[in-house]
Amino acid sequence: MIYLDFAAATPLDPKVEAAMRPYWQTKFYNPSANYLAGQGVAKDIQVARASVAAILGTRPSEIIFTAGGTESDNLAINGVMQIYPKAKLLVSATEHEAVLQTAQAYKHQLIPVNQQGVVDLAKLADLIDDQTVLISVMYANNEIGTIQPLHQIAKLIKVVKQDRQKAGNKLPLFFHTDASQAANYLDLHVSRLGVDLMTLNGGKIYGPKQTGALFVKAGLVLLSQIKGGGQERGLRSGTENVPGIIGFAKALQIAQNQRDKEVKRLQALQKSFTEQLQKALPKAIINGGKQRLPNNVHITIPGIDNERVMMQLDEQGVVCAVGSACSASNEEPSHVLKAIGLTDTEAQSSLRFSLGRPTTAQDIKVSVQALQQILSH
Ligand SMILES: Cc1ncc(COP(=O)(O)O)c(C=O)c1O
Repeated sequence: MIYLDFAAATPLDPKVEAAMRPYWQTKFYNPSANYLAGQGVAKDIQVARASVAAILGTRPSEIIFTAGGTESDNLAINGVMQIYPKAKLLVSATEHEAVLQTAQAYKHQLIPVNQQGVVDLAKLADLIDDQTVLISVMYANNEIGTIQPLHQIAKLIKVVKQDRQKAGNKLPLFFHTDASQAANYLDLHVSRLGVDLMTLNGGKIYGPKQTGALFVKAGLVLLSQIKGGGQERGLRSGTENVPGIIGFAKALQIAQNQRDKEVKRLQALQKSFTEQLQKALPKAIINGGKQRLPNNVHITIPGIDNERVMMQLDEQGVVCAVGSACSASNEEPSHVLKAIGLTDTEAQSSLRFSLGRPTTAQDIKVSVQALQQILSH
């Protein structure tokens, strides 16, 4: 099988599995226990937290371990908006449902994107008003791979904050980014990016599913979403998923170590994939623009039924995606593709290929040949 759906799920790195293994059996102790064995596990969590913090350039106390991307997005948005229930939230139009659905509970507006899927900075500036308390813009899109200009958005936010100070408006303005898809490939240093909250997702970085973290900048007060024993600074109670935390931290470390090399390798494969597709299928349109993740190839092939082609590819052993597998029901045309201006018909003629660590040049060649063969009938 040629698996080209790494944006949906990544296999567990064997080194991650090895790091996690002791915590199910020999080191199963509750990290809140006072005896030495429990304290040993608590120390291991501290080491994991420090490792994640070092990659993000933060203090360990600014890292909250969660059960994945969805939970981190929920904690960031609900955590802020429940403290400022009358305030406004801005989210980009191409966010994952974990952000879009959570935003529904609050006064919110969508930030439009251009044809490449990049947030329109001028429109964002217009949308920010005196009531805006939170802006959530994903680092990279899960469907079309577009990378957002987080640093520029942060600069805009800084100016707004200065103006507010002069005007005596005490409402804070926070910046959250969902880096679920970005963490394998992009710089995660939060002060360089200028974000106050950042979602990370273990299941997308060759770590365990249902693991992840939320970076919460020191001083930013969130309302706790899971109440109980007070773990994770009271923001996310419940006995820690110790194997998950250890695995997530290890996976992030490996991603960080491999990043530069893997980005170069995937960029070359992405280029070759795109060139081969354009040659084999001259009518194919590549979506997502130039500022994109190195593992994403998203195409619209006018006139095709994407579900049917995806299934035919599957029968030939090539696995790709229609829309985003990140949502359980794919019946509606993708909101991301609509936001970049595709019609429903065009959206239903689009396929996502997302490459990963095991992907080879041969995989790409065979996949393009399979697609060409299917479409020639
Ligand atoms: C950008 C983005 N955010 C959030 C999520 C949700 O992650 P999970 O389903 O692992 O909680 C995903 C993927 O599913 C994603 O791609």
